[in-house]
Amino acid sequence: MQNCWLLLFATLLLGSTIQASQVLYREENGVKTAVYLSPKFQLGAGSVENKYYHNIDFPKGHIAVKEFGAEVVDEEGISVPLHETYLHHWVVVRYYALTTDNGEKELKKIQVRNSGTCQNTLGQYFGLGSETRQTDTYVPDPYGIEVGNPADIPDGYVERWYLNVHAIDTRGVVDRLGCTECKCDLYNLTRDEFDRPLTSDYIGGLLCCYDQTQCMLREGFQSIKRNLYLKYTVKWVDWVDTIVPVKIYILDVTDTGEREGVASNSVGLTYQMVGCKVEYEVEPCGVSGVSSNGCVDIKKTSIVMPKGGYVIYGAAHLHSGGIVAALYGEDGRMICTSRAIYGEGKEAGNEAGYIVGMTTCYPQPGSVKVSDGETLVLESNYSSSQMHTGVMGLFYLLIAEQPPNNVLLHVQETIKFPMYSWALIFLGLTIAFIAGFSYMRRNERNEGYQSLVV
Ligand SMILES: *[C@@H]1O[C@H](CO)[C@@H](O)[C@H](O)[C@H]1NC(C)=O
Ligand SMILES: *[C@@H]1O[C@H](CO)[C@@H](O)[C@H](O)[C@H]1NC(C)=O
Repeated sequence: MQNCWLLLFATLLLGSTIQASQVLYREENGVKTAVYLSPKFQLGAGSVENKYYHNIDFPKGHIAVKEFGAEVVDEEGISVPLHETYLHHWVVVRYYALTTDNGEKELKKIQVRNSGTCQNTLGQYFGLGSETRQTDTYVPDPYGIEVGNPADIPDGYVERWYLNVHAIDTRGVVDRLGCTECKCDLYNLTRDEFDRPLTSDYIGGLLCCYDQTQCMLREGFQSIKRNLYLKYTVKWVDWVDTIVPVKIYILDVTDTGEREGVASNSVGLTYQMVGCKVEYEVEPCGVSGVSSNGCVDIKKTSIVMPKGGYVIYGAAHLHSGGIVAALYGEDGRMICTSRAIYGEGKEAGNEAGYIVGMTTCYPQPGSVKVSDGETLVLESNYSSSQMHTGVMGLFYLLIAEQPPNNVLLHVQETIKFPMYSWALIFLGLTIAFIAGFSYMRRNERNEGYQSLVV
């Protein structure tokens, strides 16, 4: 399979006149899979890429998206490890553009945002960061993310997608973690992208690692530029009425509920200046006045869910140093816990010291319900054995407003296979025990984040 992909890749690259970036298409039991490449971007040692690619390739028609994955690859199609190219984030945004627009200017585009509470800062449909290779994103049957419904698209418009890739090349840098956390002194910056002065208490974050910024390199390190792509994989099925639609909610631990002070940046995106800051800082423990909690930084916020429903999927997005994020209901019940999985080796997908995956929640359909207007509590835990800047605590939820239409079927199934269920529970507990044990061991080793090595 791997060889087959590479072959297709090679074919594509040799035939460089080919416009389409689709490198693979497959259909199995009605589930279609397409693998695409983003436009090419170039990174030299220590440099940053933060570009927006409009009108990217995406499956056409009225469909249900079942899975969306991505990773950074080089010109040979080989996965690039995070210690070389750190994938800060990628996001894919849905929008409507004028039919007459060829995709160059797209002046009148209408963004179709997710249903979450930070619409102006986190309007995307899909998106992850360094954890992208090992985080499950599939939407279980009978659910799907409905897109491309002609009835929803305004007259004279077409549905399109844009992609934002933010990648940081950390080959040869002085401070690998500092560069990935966008520490302003390493980027030698005192002003932002729009030449506005940064406040003295702004130590690091997205304002200091905008497109084409440069992180400090080791003396004499020879920078070799290379061409890279975001390779993204979409799985989908054609829409049929038996599919139950799910809504996407992206919740942010920095969301204070305030909604004022909207500003725009150069690409016409609107940023909410208060309420949803997306990033925050983790103060190191042991500093006077900072309670240590065993060197765990705990950040919590309450978020009112405009609409409720049944939770189908949940996963958090954390940065290096992140331990776990959890979402609780108004009555304190656990809705979903998502833990950081750290790599232990050198190879792509298992890079030591980096978050290479997040555990996910797939509740039994119908078992986890959120009420309309319910106040949820989002909690994000980071190791504070050292300072962290520009960290995030996001929660990505898929919610179905309709109850599952096959509840009866599920009940019958569990009655039919009691032995099987018990075996599964036993197996689950065993796996949980082993996973918990190795997690604890891993945690010990990652204490203080010294393992961002190579
Ligand atoms: C940092 O920026 C200042 C002012 O922009 C410049 O004069 C200086 O040479 C820069 N230092 C490095 C190491 O690039
Ligand atoms: C976060 O850390 C605190 C303090 O150690 C702990 O009580 C809490 O359970 C942690 N949260 C999660 C979701 O594990």
